[in-house]
Amino acid sequence: MQERLKELQAEAIEKVEQASSLKELNDIRVAYLGKKGPITEVLRGMGKLSAEERPVIGAFANEVRAAISAKMEAKQAELEEAAVQAKLASETIDVTLPGRPVKLGNHHPLTKIIEEIEDLFIGMGYEVAEGPEVEQDYYNFEALNLPKGHPARDMQDSFYITEDILLRTHTSPVQARTMEKHEGKGSIKIICPGKVYRRDNDDATHSHQFMQIEGLVVGENIRMSDLKGTLEVFAKKIFGEDREIRLRPSFFPFTEPSVEMDISCKICGGHGCSVCKHTGWIEILGAGMVHPNVLEMAGYDSRVFNGFAFGMGPERIAMLKYGVDDIRHFYTNDVRFLKQFAVEE
Ligand code: DAH
Repeated sequence: MQERLKELQAEAIEKVEQASSLKELNDIRVAYLGKKGPITEVLRGMGKLSAEERPVIGAFANEVRAAISAKMEAKQAELEEAAVQAKLASETIDVTLPGRPVKLGNHHPLTKIIEEIEDLFIGMGYEVAEGPEVEQDYYNFEALNLPKGHPARDMQDSFYITEDILLRTHTSPVQARTMEKHEGKGSIKIICPGKVYRRDNDDATHSHQFMQIEGLVVGENIRMSDLKGTLEVFAKKIFGEDREIRLRPSFFPFTEPSVEMDISCKICGGHGCSVCKHTGWIEILGAGMVHPNVLEMAGYDSRVFNGFAFGMGPERIAMLKYGVDDIRHFYTNDVRFLKQFAVEE
């Protein structure tokens, strides 16, 4: 019996050694150690043995089982390790392969110009302020020295929502809101970019919705020369150091005196061409010293405080800077147009 068990052990171990997969190994386990296996079979015959022989054979059979099991475990670990290695080898990534190119977008030309102007003014100590696009008639007009029935209201055809609420026609209401927030105390230096709306028919130079950037400085002893110097820095930084500026007298109800700023035409160098309508100058923005009524209505003592303000259109600036001939390009979003502004990013 012992001989037979030894044979079985040798046979099983040899098979285990030759096994090449986990499945094969499991089949061997069932075949040799299972209930229907030869070892169990041998042990069934133990009844015929003497009482002295039985425990000896029993112990021996257990040793045989243990030896086969140990061999199987070792083989199993070996096969599992080999499977992991094979999997790793088959899944190797070639990190040197070039990637698939991802199409990148770019900033909208108006975003670019607004950010450029923001950066410039932030560099001069200004903060960026915001206000609502759906605005009260009070802030859009009244607080800016444009009472109901004032003829200058007609300069800005408006989208009214109710009698007292409209889509703001300019960013100037943010001036009134910001001054009011300061409750008549302390100085202010803000610029305010944002969307504005007017009842215009869209064409190459008009859009019912466009952008503006407002500027406001309030303090003590602010002078017209401060305004001029600020605008000159702005014009040269945005359009080029060789640009000249000129201020022309103008009228806005919220500033006194009021001016319009022109820059010298880059295209003809000031000699006159179709872009500058043969004047050598191109109008860029409106500005002036804040009207005392506007300061007073917002809670500032106009005997102590004064200031300057300006308002400009980023579309116009972008059109001049990049040579765009139709304002509608900014809003129809043709990718062929927008893509041209990716180069400098
Ligand atoms: N709000 C004016 C407009 O939309 C532009 C403007 C002119 C703003 C003069 C100002 C200013 O702050 O001082 O036509």
